[in-house]
Amino acid sequence: MTQKNTLHDSGNMPNWKRDFPIQQKKATHVSRREFAKFLALFSGTLALANGIIVIRSLLFPSKPLEGEHLVCREEDVPLGKMFQFEIEGSRVVPYILIHLAEGEWRAFEQKCTHLTCAVRYRDDLQKIECPCHHGFFSGDTGEVLQGPPPRPLPQLEVLVRDGKVYVKQDAS
Ligand code: FES
Repeated sequence: MTQKNTLHDSGNMPNWKRDFPIQQKKATHVSRREFAKFLALFSGTLALANGIIVIRSLLFPSKPLEGEHLVCREEDVPLGKMFQFEIEGSRVVPYILIHLAEGEWRAFEQKCTHLTCAVRYRDDLQKIECPCHHGFFSGDTGEVLQGPPPRPLPQLEVLVRDGKVYVKQDAS
């Protein structure tokens, strides 16, 4: 018994190509009109997503933190290093804890006040850096030192008790 030939008799074209002919040039060509439609749809979707975020933040502003929150033990964060953490129930995620100097701790929201990129503490500069647009904040106060951020980083108060580090809403 011979195996059924899957190729078209008149050449090397498979049967499926003969039944569903596709012209490669037409199939891959994107006209200017189609590209413009795609761009309009794409930017419309982005604008809608941004609008939803703004409306959500206006309708449901983030509540101040209540009480103290355990972050870590003192020995978990070496001198000059940063520790990223989250607080359960907080809509601001995440935060950073900085071990500035012996007995000196700072905690800030990690979202840059410009376009919400994640900031990080640079021990070599003793500043908080936003890598997106080269913004810098003071590691001590969160004040803007350089770049486009319009406001300081929101800060939490840090408390150290029995070798454990806690944060709470900054009273000032
Ligand atoms: S997002 Fe941080 S400087 Fe632009």
